[in-house]
Amino acid sequence: MDKQIHTFLHKLSFVAITIASITLVSLFLRTPETCVPPEAPSKPHLRFPKSTCDFTTNRPHLPSDKKNNRLWSSRDWNNKLHSISLLFLPIRDLGLLPNHSKILCVSAGAGHEVAALSRLGVEDVTGVEIFDSPPLVSRADPHNLPFFDAAFDFAFTARFDEALFPARFAAEMERVVRPGGVCFVLVGECGPREVRDVVRLFRNSRFVSSSNVSLVGIRMTSILMRTRKSYS
Ligand SMILES: *[C@@H]1O[C@H](CO)[C@@H](O)[C@H](O)[C@H]1NC(C)=O
Ligand SMILES: *[C@@H]1O[C@H](CO)[C@@H](O)[C@H](O)[C@H]1NC(C)=O
Repeated sequence: MDKQIHTFLHKLSFVAITIASITLVSLFLRTPETCVPPEAPSKPHLRFPKSTCDFTTNRPHLPSDKKNNRLWSSRDWNNKLHSISLLFLPIRDLGLLPNHSKILCVSAGAGHEVAALSRLGVEDVTGVEIFDSPPLVSRADPHNLPFFDAAFDFAFTARFDEALFPARFAAEMERVVRPGGVCFVLVGECGPREVRDVVRLFRNSRFVSSSNVSLVGIRMTSILMRTRKSYS
C-alpha cells in the first residue's frame, strides 16, 4: 500500500515537472510585449496572428500593396496629406519638430499623418490604431500603448474627441513622450474653456498654444503642449 502511494506520488511529480517545462518553453517562445513590426512573412497565407502584439495580418500582402498604391496615388489621399502638413509647419518653425524626432501618431486611422510627417522629412514616425493598416499603421490600444516610457519626442492625435477614456488616453500619450517633449492634439473647433478642459487632462504637460485650424475642410482646434521637464 505504502509503496503504491510512493509510486503514485512519483508519477504525479513527473507530470508536474513536465507541465512546468512546457509552460517555461512556451513563455520563452511567446511574442515580447514591446512589438517591432517584423519583415513581411515568406508565406503570408500560412500565417495567422498569434497575439494582439502580432503586427502582420493574415491578409495576403500582394493585394494589400496594390490597394495601397491605388490609395496613395488618389487625389483625396494627397489632399489630406497636404492639409495635415500645414498643421505641422508652424510647429516645425518653432523648432519643436526636427527631422530626427521620434514621433508617435495615436489613432492614426489609415495613416495620413504618418505619410504626411514622413514626407515633411521626419525620419522616425510610428502610427498606431485599434485596426492596423500595414505598412503605415500598426495595431495597438491607445489606452494601453505598447511602448516604453519616454520612448518618443512627440505624440500627436487628430482623434482626441473620439477617445473612450480621455484621461487615460492623455496619460498614455504623456507617458510615452520624454520629459520636455511635445503632445499635440486636435479636437473639434472649440473655445478657450474647452481647450482648458483638454489641457487639464494632460496632467504632466503645460499649455503652449492653441489655434483654430481647418483639416480637409473640417474646422478643428489644435492644442500644443509640452511635457514637464521633470516628474512632480
Ligand atoms: C528635413 O527633411 C526635409 C525633407 O527631406 C528637407 O527638405 C529638410 O531640409 C530637412 N531639414 C533639415 C533641417 O535638415
Ligand atoms: C475658435 O473658434 C471658436 C468658435 O467656434 C472661438 O470661440 C474661439 O475663440 C476660436 N479660437 C481661436 C484661438 O481663435
